[in-house]
Amino acid sequence: MNILLLGSGGREHAFAWKIVNSPNCKQLFVAPGNAGTASIAQNIAISPTDFNALADFSIENHIDMIMVGPEEPLVKGITDFFDNHPTLHHLPVIGPSQAGAQLEGSKDFSKQFMQKYSVPTAAYETFTKETFEEGLAFIRKQSLPIVLKADGLAAGKGVLICQSHDEAEDSLKEMLLDSKFGKASDKVVIEQFLKGIELSVFVATDGSHYKILPEAKDYKRIGEGDTGLNTGGMGAVSPVPFADEEFIKKVEERVVIPTIQGLKKENIPYVGFLFIGLMNDAGNPYVIEYNVRMGDPETEAVLPRIKSDFVDLLYAMGTGKLDSYLLETASNTCTTVVLVAGGYPGDYEKGKKIIGLDPHESSSKSIVFHAGTKISDSGEILTNGGRVLAITGMGEDIASALENAYTKAAEVCWDGVYYRKDIGQDILNLIK
Ligand code: AMP
Ligand code: GLY
Repeated sequence: MNILLLGSGGREHAFAWKIVNSPNCKQLFVAPGNAGTASIAQNIAISPTDFNALADFSIENHIDMIMVGPEEPLVKGITDFFDNHPTLHHLPVIGPSQAGAQLEGSKDFSKQFMQKYSVPTAAYETFTKETFEEGLAFIRKQSLPIVLKADGLAAGKGVLICQSHDEAEDSLKEMLLDSKFGKASDKVVIEQFLKGIELSVFVATDGSHYKILPEAKDYKRIGEGDTGLNTGGMGAVSPVPFADEEFIKKVEERVVIPTIQGLKKENIPYVGFLFIGLMNDAGNPYVIEYNVRMGDPETEAVLPRIKSDFVDLLYAMGTGKLDSYLLETASNTCTTVVLVAGGYPGDYEKGKKIIGLDPHESSSKSIVFHAGTKISDSGEILTNGGRVLAITGMGEDIASALENAYTKAAEVCWDGVYYRKDIGQDILNLIK
């Protein structure tokens, strides 16, 4: 099969690595990709949101399947565009319809959906400019802390956890009246704070059938001990020891099944991955959020644990045959450490030469996935983003996987490189 993969992060390098390792992949193109995908596939300089250019490319290059990595093209309707295309409507596109992508694109939509289909989540109300005063009154009745969420996509910054009523009232004003997040905060969801430990569960679906992939835990803050600013993700661990069979069964019964059935009842086409951000409160799952794609860096820890053919999985999703796909996963542990540019998630420089890297590098102990990297005209690999590399260590347990990830991380450097040294420590402390 000729496959076109969209995106340019560590997640997409991990997808590319799985796809090219399948005997069912003839040729893989990545739009636009990074230096890592360039070493195993063919990068093409097309934006994932330039649907017309992607369609022309697909026709010229006899593309058999498109895999969408990030949420932006999905929220902008890439799947509907191809489904309605005069010649490409049969091309499987792995990623939900624009209506389905609202599960991530609109917090208000996803909360209404969860309420309608009895998916456990935090109690909430939604407010607009017109109902600002009611919003203030609602805040005053809430116990602390109070969670405020911009309705739309806000580059991961749209969630505020307010420790006082005054702070929540000021934040509501900034969001609704001063357009703090532009149009994304025209509506604001105010919700109850959930206690517990977070984890992410990933589901592959063809719209009717589903497979639950290995779960992962993400490390969102820049600083060790989960301090400092939020980032796209600084590390990941899979599996998560407290997500035992009993817990995952609850997630399946209370969240996965009602979600897939709800989408069907609403006539919302959903072929793709669903990322369920959960809080485990005393053994019970509560949904924090849905994302309509795989997580980054969770994908870099989850995909190496999938043993069955990955292209077959994607094709089964795209052709409604997921019930006949046998998902096989490995029992080992993967831990991912993200190496970022100095200054990230604030201002940072690009174009730093990365030393100690072999672009083809992967062993039984570790794999180096590229995120923000590019190849210079003279063939050097340069930093090209905030999150630069995602290094996954594999092992029999968390400790050995971490040792392999950190050993590899220590071999790579550039001016300003930073990474957290405490990925997985909280889990190690918990299971001690
Ligand atoms: P999101 O942008 O929806 O991923 O939210 C960012 C982070 O805010 C989540 O990963 C949680 O750590 C936290 N968060 C969001 N909603 C809640 C909630 N209702 N209770 C506690 N923490 C939350
Ligand atoms: N790592 C969190 C996300 O991909 O949204």
